[in-house]
Amino acid sequence: MSMNERIAAAKRELGEDCVVLGHHYQRDEVIRFADHTGDSYKLSKMAAQARGQYIVFCGVHFMAESADVLSRPDQVVVLPDLNAGCSMADMAEITQVEDCWEQLAALGLTSDAGEGMTPITYMNSTAAIKAFCGERGGVVCTSSNARGAFDWGFARNEKILFLPDQHLGRNTAYAMGIPLSDMVVWDPFLPQGGLRKDRLRAARVILWKGHCSVHQRFLPEHVDKVRAKYPGIQVIVHPECRLEVCQKADGIGSTEKLIKLVEQAPAGSKFAIGTEIHLINRLAKQVAPEKMAITLDDSGCLCTTMFRISPQHLCWALENLVDGNVVNRIQVADEVKRWARVALDRMLEIQ
Ligand code: 13P
Ligand code: SF4
Repeated sequence: MSMNERIAAAKRELGEDCVVLGHHYQRDEVIRFADHTGDSYKLSKMAAQARGQYIVFCGVHFMAESADVLSRPDQVVVLPDLNAGCSMADMAEITQVEDCWEQLAALGLTSDAGEGMTPITYMNSTAAIKAFCGERGGVVCTSSNARGAFDWGFARNEKILFLPDQHLGRNTAYAMGIPLSDMVVWDPFLPQGGLRKDRLRAARVILWKGHCSVHQRFLPEHVDKVRAKYPGIQVIVHPECRLEVCQKADGIGSTEKLIKLVEQAPAGSKFAIGTEIHLINRLAKQVAPEKMAITLDDSGCLCTTMFRISPQHLCWALENLVDGNVVNRIQVADEVKRWARVALDRMLEIQ
């Protein structure tokens, strides 16, 4: 039997007991077996609604952790390759975040109850950081509801600490009319984040110094170049791209939204997209020849950690489930789960 036949057979055998979730950055050979595809917001909803016993998450570690937090206690979440992490999520460690919060509290800017500052973490963070935010009156957001989460945070406090993606935080706050002079970047490797007390006191938004190495490669000159080459082309980008790129773009959105923008455009439309290359290549094939979709830069950016999930890993995980063995289970500790769930439930309430 070929690999594809083996995966299909294992899925058939597991039937309704198993749901395979696939993030849009997964390669074609993997995503073809997903029962549901989506951005991280949609996939976390799918995990929360899953009925069967097994949730096989073809995505990265923080997504599988969130699925475990949101699913029932009797359900099991499997990540086909444990090396599928996220370099951005790795840029914030819980001890660094606790340390930052203590320093901000020492300045009188917040407290353990989160008075004065709302902590908001992007989905791309560990469950421990989600729990940290939940316990201090904060929330999780994704790229599709970051604006709603900022409104939510500002309704409670004058200041927001945003983790760990400085670009999503900056783009969101800037779009709300908050000037760059009211934002500071906290460097966890420097004393007091590398910031003066007066700057911290005056700031409305404290951005964690984290970024996505995939999206940070897109530059404003790529936008100019592609516009010069293809007159009339629309540039659409993920909000993990830097502010200078987002400001030049015609549209900004989560992976699901970027796909919808292209799918819903009239025939003849041309798009240059600033996000991961597997999504773009798949979409380009789907909409050709009526519409054109290309990568914003020349080379195309690959998320190497998403790419870790291969058909071989998926096959191995599913065949083991058929045999009654759970491999690569992602299980968040109960004490972390409680507050992470609070923060994720708040996220699911925000559109
Ligand atoms: P989405 O929620 O838009 O799918 O983004 C997840 C991600 O990791 C993008 O790099
Ligand atoms: Fe993380 Fe960037 Fe990959 Fe998204 S594209 S999973 S933020 S490394």
